[in-house]
Amino acid sequence: MRKKIVAGNWKMNTTFAEGEALVNAIIAKKGEVKSDVTLVVAPPFTHLTCLAEELEKAGIGLSAQNCAEHESGAYTGEVSAKMLASVDVKYCILGHSERREYYGETSATLTKKIALALKYNLTPIFCVGERLDERESNRHFDVISAQLEVLTQLSAEDFARVVVAYEPVWAIGTGKTATSAQAQEVHAFIRKALAAKFGAAAEQTPILYGGSCKPSNAAELFAQPDVDGGLIGGASLAADDFIAIAKAF
Ligand code: 13P
Repeated sequence: MRKKIVAGNWKMNTTFAEGEALVNAIIAKKGEVKSDVTLVVAPPFTHLTCLAEELEKAGIGLSAQNCAEHESGAYTGEVSAKMLASVDVKYCILGHSERREYYGETSATLTKKIALALKYNLTPIFCVGERLDERESNRHFDVISAQLEVLTQLSAEDFARVVVAYEPVWAIGTGKTATSAQAQEVHAFIRKALAAKFGAAAEQTPILYGGSCKPSNAAELFAQPDVDGGLIGGASLAADDFIAIAKAF
């Protein structure tokens, strides 16, 4: 049985007070979610230290949204994987399309980041996904295959600790969700590509869907055989919606 995960990527939203209130509201409702569903929240860096203890007690995973590609040193403004681990962060989103698009992250950068995340025992939530023009020109499988090369370079031991998220860029923040059939098609493709390198271990890899996932479409997406949960943006900023999505399992 693969792990089921519903993770909230808050992106650059919430003041600390708002983030704390959101976490409290999620904790208050967590009992409504089936115990085999792992909840994860990814607040901005500024909130992580202060939220870690409360989340840990509630059994909710704490994630960062990024980490540096270097261990330490003269990299003004960066936050390292080691620093994140030192404040009990457990997961790290890597390769989000917004990082790829606005901050120039490439597979080369991501290879370094994922190695550091794994070194410091953070679970990478590694994002892949095609842009609209890539889907329309039927290149989405090629794009995703190329993005997955960051993972296929890993050792089998490291690979076993990775979570994958499929986030079609055209569905992020647009209100346009991939149909459950489109999501399943790509998730199955990803699993097959990973199985070609890692064999049966790929059967254990959680593959999350992200892109305008909301309470009204989560159940259909999560019912697909290769969809193991969601990476939720906008709808993770309202506790009721986030919990309703997690209850869709
Ligand atoms: P939305 O749910 O707002 O479309 O964002 C998805 C996402 O990018 C999660 O990482």
